[in-house]
Amino acid sequence: MHFGAIARVPGDPILGLMEAYANDPSPHKFDLGVGVFKDAQGLTPVPAAVKQAEQRLLDSQTSKSYVGGHGDVAFGQLITRLVMGDDAPLIAAARVGATQTPGGTGALRLAAEFLRQCLPGRGIWLSDPTWPIHETIFASAGLQVGHYPYVGADNRLNVAGMLASLEAAPKGDVVLLHACCHNPTGFDLSQHDWQAVLEVVKRRELLPLIDFAYQGFGDGLQEDAWAVRLFAAELPELLITSSCSKNFGLYRERTGALLVCADTAERLQNVRSQLALLARNLWSTPPDHGAAVVATILGDAALKRLWVEEVEAMRQRIATLRIGLVEALEPHGLSERFAHIAEQRGMFSYTGLSPQQVAQLRERHSVYMVGTGRANIAGADASRLQVLAAAIADVCR
Ligand code: LMR
Repeated sequence: MHFGAIARVPGDPILGLMEAYANDPSPHKFDLGVGVFKDAQGLTPVPAAVKQAEQRLLDSQTSKSYVGGHGDVAFGQLITRLVMGDDAPLIAAARVGATQTPGGTGALRLAAEFLRQCLPGRGIWLSDPTWPIHETIFASAGLQVGHYPYVGADNRLNVAGMLASLEAAPKGDVVLLHACCHNPTGFDLSQHDWQAVLEVVKRRELLPLIDFAYQGFGDGLQEDAWAVRLFAAELPELLITSSCSKNFGLYRERTGALLVCADTAERLQNVRSQLALLARNLWSTPPDHGAAVVATILGDAALKRLWVEEVEAMRQRIATLRIGLVEALEPHGLSERFAHIAEQRGMFSYTGLSPQQVAQLRERHSVYMVGTGRANIAGADASRLQVLAAAIADVCR
C-alpha cells in the first residue's frame, strides 16, 4: 500500500464556497464568495467582445500546434501595451517582455520559480492580509515569506506600518504589491502612498512584484495602471503578473502573463531565456484559446472599443452596488459603520464582519462569503440589497 498514510486535507476555502453555495437550496441565497463578476441576472457572462473573437477564431484558426515557450507573440505584445501604455518608453527600448501563463496564478507560480532558482536567498514580503494563494505559492516554492502590515484589526489601511516594515526588509528582498483592487480587502493605496512605497523600494533596493489581476475594475483601465507605470518608469527592474480572468471574463480559459522589465534589452533576454525553461518544466507551453481571444480583441479597433465599454460597465456596476449596499444599511443605523464599502475598490470588500458573523450570515440567511469577512460585492443582487442589508443587520445586533 502506498497511499495508506496520506491524510485528507480541507479543500480550498474560496473554491469550497462555490460548492457550498451551489448545494444550498434556498431561493434567497447570496453568493459573495469566489471573485467572479455577476450581472443583474446573477450570471457571469461571456463578454460580447469575447464571443465575437471566438467566432472569428473558429472560422479562421488553421492549426492547434503548440505556441512557443512565451506563448502567443501577438498576445504578449498587446498585453504589454495594455499594462504599460501604448507609448511606454520601455516598449520602444525593448526593456519589457511578456511570457504567457495559465492565468494570473500561473504567472505568480512562474515568478516564484524564477525567484527561487535565479535569485536564491531572497525573501518575499506579502501584505497582511493578502490573497491566501500568494502565501502558499511562494511558501511551497521554498521562499522565505514575510509580511508587512496593510489592514489592521480596526479594518483601516495602515500605510505607516507598511512603510516601516518595508524599511526594515533586508536589502534586495522581493515585495509583492497589489496594483489595484486589493484582494482581499478592497483598500487601495493613494498615489501619494505609492510614491512613498516607491521611495522605500529604492532605498532598500527591493524588487517589486506587482500583482495586476483586476485592471479596469478599480478606477478604469488606464487609471488602474498608474502605479505599475510609475514603478516601471522609476525603477530599473520590475516583475508584473497580469490576469485576463476578470476583465475579459476568461476565468476558466486560464489566461495571464508574467511581464518583466529589465534595465537593458540584453538583460531582459537573459531573464526571458530562463523563464522559457522554467515554464517548460511547469506546463511546457501555455494554453492557447484565451490568449488568442485577447489578441483578437486587442488587435482589432472595433472589438477593443466594445470590450473597453464592457469592462467599464462591469466596473460601474460594482461601484453602484457598493453605494447601494451602504444606502441599504442606512435604515439599520449601519451606514457609517460600513461606509468603507463604498470607498473600497474592485470586487472585494473587507467588511469588518467577524468569522462568527460570517458563519451566522451563512446559517441564518444563506449569505456566502469568505470567513475573514471578505465579501465579493460584484456577486450581490442590486434588486435585493435591502434583504442583504437586513441579514447583515441581524448578525450585527
Ligand atoms: C478570489 O480571490 O476569489 C479569486 O481570485 C478567485 C480565486 O482563484 O481565488
